[in-house]
Amino acid sequence: MAQKSGYDFVVVANRLAVDRITTEDGGTGWRRSPGGLVTALAPIMAQSDGAWVGWHGAADETLEPFDHAGMHLVPVPLSEQEVEDYYEGFSNATLWPLYHDVIARPEFHRHWFEAYRRVNRRFAEAAAAVAAEGATIWVQDYQLQLVPAMLRELRPDVRIGFFNHIPFPPPGLFSQLPWRHSVLRGLLGADLIGFQRESDARNFQRVVRHRLGYYIKSDQIYVPSEEPEPDQLSSLPGLHPDPARGTVARQAAAPQQGDYRIAEAKAFPISIDTQKIVELAERPDIIARSEQIRRELGNPETIFLGVDRLDYTKGIRHRMKAYEELLADGELTVGQACLVQVASPSREGVESYRLLREEIESTVGRINGEYDTLAHTAIRYLHHSYPVEEMVALYLAADVMLVTALRDGMNLVAKEYVAARKSGQGVLVLSEFTGAADQMRQALLINPHDVDELKTAMVKAATMEPENARRRMRSLRRQVVSHNVQRWAEEFLERLAELR
Ligand code: F6P
Repeated sequence: MAQKSGYDFVVVANRLAVDRITTEDGGTGWRRSPGGLVTALAPIMAQSDGAWVGWHGAADETLEPFDHAGMHLVPVPLSEQEVEDYYEGFSNATLWPLYHDVIARPEFHRHWFEAYRRVNRRFAEAAAAVAAEGATIWVQDYQLQLVPAMLRELRPDVRIGFFNHIPFPPPGLFSQLPWRHSVLRGLLGADLIGFQRESDARNFQRVVRHRLGYYIKSDQIYVPSEEPEPDQLSSLPGLHPDPARGTVARQAAAPQQGDYRIAEAKAFPISIDTQKIVELAERPDIIARSEQIRRELGNPETIFLGVDRLDYTKGIRHRMKAYEELLADGELTVGQACLVQVASPSREGVESYRLLREEIESTVGRINGEYDTLAHTAIRYLHHSYPVEEMVALYLAADVMLVTALRDGMNLVAKEYVAARKSGQGVLVLSEFTGAADQMRQALLINPHDVDELKTAMVKAATMEPENARRRMRSLRRQVVSHNVQRWAEEFLERLAELR
């Protein structure tokens, strides 16, 4: 541990890397969070004297920093009002829908943005206070987009990375945001800005060029050290601002002189802890559990599986519509087929999530009412979160994995399913609107808005020749085995180290 002049590697994320648990004696304790990000970064934290700054998940509670599982944890407090305005409001009812193709209508409220700015500053100050001289600070995700520039102001000596886990929208959508310049300038405080897909990085570069007029070459953005006010843009070489539209019409000429720094924006597609999933999928107790799941469902020929947070971006309605029509057409029958839908509870304080839950649950009720038999169910709907062991048993039990997201930064469920299918059997139906689709070309790629195409893919998956399925699965597995989340973190951090 550091001699408390500070920590050499600091991660800043909305959520802390530990979950609070109730211990056997009824007290409370902490357990390392099971997610891929924590799994990837924990070893780096342990080796390089790391601290993790994040919210511990409860409102109106201030906790002292503590050490756990080889990490120094710095809890950032949020009041109940801030949870409402910063987390449920600006993060999840403004940015989330805006960045996901406005599937739901984003709400723009000034007091939400004020809370976002205030909370971002709190995270930045907490990180600045624990970072050693010259440390590397890695800021995570859309909840904290203002933090990089705030950190740069507080601590010009540190190296700053940012990774956006969700899509970055095309300029036409991003430009709706009333605080678009603040967000762009916030992000441009980083030395390296990582995105899931090439198209996300390009969207960001295009909007920076279009809105700020900065010169960009080979993913490198030339950020002037002195930020010009919008009305001074015309004095920059090569810029032709269009005052009527408040935009910069074309890219600045390459800076010849003057003070600027480089911010690089490029894609680093995230992955999973592949080894962990492979090992779980080989455990006899988990294999036995997968067989038990099949038996309990009445040994159908085809188990379709959906695993999602209960979120309107995931295309759960589209999947159910396709499945219902296949039952109505007689192309599938209950008993022969079953759809298992795990929908883990999420963001229940946000109105659009509450409405979605009502809609999905009434759809499940209607379909099951129509098609269930005494012995078999059409849809086994589970509104729970499960430990990873149970998830792997479900992956092993499922013949067809349905990932029908309307927009998704990556979708790690698709990668976990593939990692678990060492036997080579099983078919992945994958939406082309997920980041995973860029790397998983051997899946059955579909447009989830096209219900007929989705139905065709579901039938094709259920009836695919085993040799064809195995060939596809082998190729998918090669990708997931060779690109795990540890490699993702190393590649990002190596590039960040090269940049300054
Ligand atoms: O995909 C973005 C993300 O923030 C993930 O990092 C996280 O696991 C998920 O959404 C759920 O986020 P939360 O429950 O913190 O709102």
